[in-house]
Amino acid sequence: MSNVTTKVFPTKQEAVSLVADQIETLIRDRAAAGKKAILGLATGSTPVALYQELIRRHKEKGLSFKNVVSFNLDEYYGLPGTHDQSYRYFMNQQLFDHVDINKADTHVPNGTVAEDKVDAECVAYEAAIKAAGGIDIQILGIGRTGHIGFNEPPAGPATRTRKVHLDELTRKDNSVFFGDISKVPHYAITMGVGTILDAHRVVLLAWGEAKADIIRRTLKDTPSDSCPASWLQQHKDCLFVLDQAAAAKI
Ligand code: GLP
Repeated sequence: MSNVTTKVFPTKQEAVSLVADQIETLIRDRAAAGKKAILGLATGSTPVALYQELIRRHKEKGLSFKNVVSFNLDEYYGLPGTHDQSYRYFMNQQLFDHVDINKADTHVPNGTVAEDKVDAECVAYEAAIKAAGGIDIQILGIGRTGHIGFNEPPAGPATRTRKVHLDELTRKDNSVFFGDISKVPHYAITMGVGTILDAHRVVLLAWGEAKADIIRRTLKDTPSDSCPASWLQQHKDCLFVLDQAAAAKI
């Protein structure tokens, strides 16, 4: 049985407002207690509207990110943070450069680590999340293969942060950002499904009809490694925030 709570909104603007409320409450409560808020962040087109809303709240409502520590899900292997398609670059552009977060508190897996140091980098990433006390709220998008982060099928709860091979469908979907599929890396470093399931709260966002099939499989199929996102059904505190088009088949 799925534990997932699903909320469907007429527009993604209304949807991101609810998620921004949850993040704002966490940040402000922790700040009042003199503590850090630990956010797990995602890339792709899906969370952009959420980041815009958080920036708006920073500028117009004085929401400070000084007590926020962030961990991103994934990074392309081989791309430096200065590459305009790297996820480090994306996060700086879409969120970090527009709020008062301490850059030293923002973590994105290092995509330029040497082959023989990848395992150590991944172990260190997991350790850093643990040392911070775990992720309070993990934001997720979803790929049409059922991937969360870059956990392509097959992947299940035993997977941790590691280097992975990207599906051709994912490379094709992401080629719109690169301009040409030949430029899309074949590998990435990603948190594992198990890493994601360890987050205290998980919020998955999905917009548009292109996501309707995978959202149905994720929520309705028995959890299996062939749809990594379906393991979210077993999380104790997981919310799916959808627009009507993404929810059309559930
Ligand atoms: C990317 C990211 C995922 C993201 C997904 C969907 O490849 N690694 O974290 O959720 O694919 O992307 P989009 O939001 O652009 O549909």
